[in-house]
Amino acid sequence: MDTKIFKMDPEHTDREAIRICADILKRGGTVAFPTETVYGLGANALDKNAIEKIFTAKGRPSDNPLILHVYSFEEVVKYAEEIPDDALKLADFFSPGPLSMIFRKKSIVPPAATGGLETAAFRVPSNKVALALIEEARLPIAAPSANLSGKPSTTDGSHVIDDLFGRVDAIIDTGRSEIGLESTVVDMTVSPPEVLRPGGVTLNELRMVIPAIKRSYTTENSSAPKSPGMKYRHYSPESPLTIVKGNSNDVIDRINFLVSGNSNIGVLCCDETYDLYSGGKKISVGSINDPGTIASNVFHALRLFDKSGVTAIYSEYFSIGDMEEAVMNRLRKASAEIIQI
Ligand code: TXA
Ligand code: MG
Repeated sequence: MDTKIFKMDPEHTDREAIRICADILKRGGTVAFPTETVYGLGANALDKNAIEKIFTAKGRPSDNPLILHVYSFEEVVKYAEEIPDDALKLADFFSPGPLSMIFRKKSIVPPAATGGLETAAFRVPSNKVALALIEEARLPIAAPSANLSGKPSTTDGSHVIDDLFGRVDAIIDTGRSEIGLESTVVDMTVSPPEVLRPGGVTLNELRMVIPAIKRSYTTENSSAPKSPGMKYRHYSPESPLTIVKGNSNDVIDRINFLVSGNSNIGVLCCDETYDLYSGGKKISVGSINDPGTIASNVFHALRLFDKSGVTAIYSEYFSIGDMEEAVMNRLRKASAEIIQI
């Protein structure tokens, strides 16, 4: 398949390129586009055939439902019903932004978009290019993360090109994503609402608006996932990732021992510990005092390790307060093993 690539300055939306991409979507094609969280692979959410192209391009299991992207929260009523007051409150604070909410879907949304579920997830992205594309297409855009299934989500246009060139109709490349981790997914069909996937909006932030909101993902390895996507192997770099958790000095000693100077082994660490590792291919995801930076660099670092051809990766456990659940949820899912010392 011929893939058109549009490079764009995120601050200056190229209207002509947006028009071409919106036309592709209207004609049932696929367009990868930036959002503030990660890149998405979009298609017309109301067109079953277009949706099938997303699953084929990604190699994604068809029972894993997609998030529908709309340009304003008011649009959601066209595609969903039983929208509770709590959802309006959350939308007031966090929409547009990295929050996806699940409602009962109307029949206009085909089962192909929701993995056969009677519910559908909705999100209004805050990224200007994403909003321009959705508005120009005048359609809800179904978009999972724009990566091959099982690989780390894409947080840079070049990663999207690596994974999807030749598999989609167009790619809009605006460089790095701002947040670098996917949206928080909240099930609004239950009362109190339940968080199914931690993400860009933290549990504490959600609880400031809805104190009773529950967490339904586990912070350890889960056995009965509620969100279909949580049961698949995810975010994995090509070489096995091991997380080492414990007292900081012990972690550094253990990783140094495991790496024992081998420059083909990756070490994922932070600014504060970087100099304490004596070998391996080191990447710092940022200062432990700057959780936002760590969140935005995690997927990016896993991709860098893949490119550098390391044979194994050891990562510290990052204790970073409110963002810790989302960051460690992704790293845990990407990992082959967790060593607790
Ligand atoms: O930030 C994001 O959410 C990105 C950008 C592109 O918007 N999208 C994204 O999509 O991460 P995806 O498909 O990679 O992850 C969507 C998650 C999956 O875990 C899926 O199972 C869950 O949301 N999900 C979607 N609809 C659902 C539903 N009706 N019920 C339960 N879980 C649902
Ligand atoms: Mg994904």
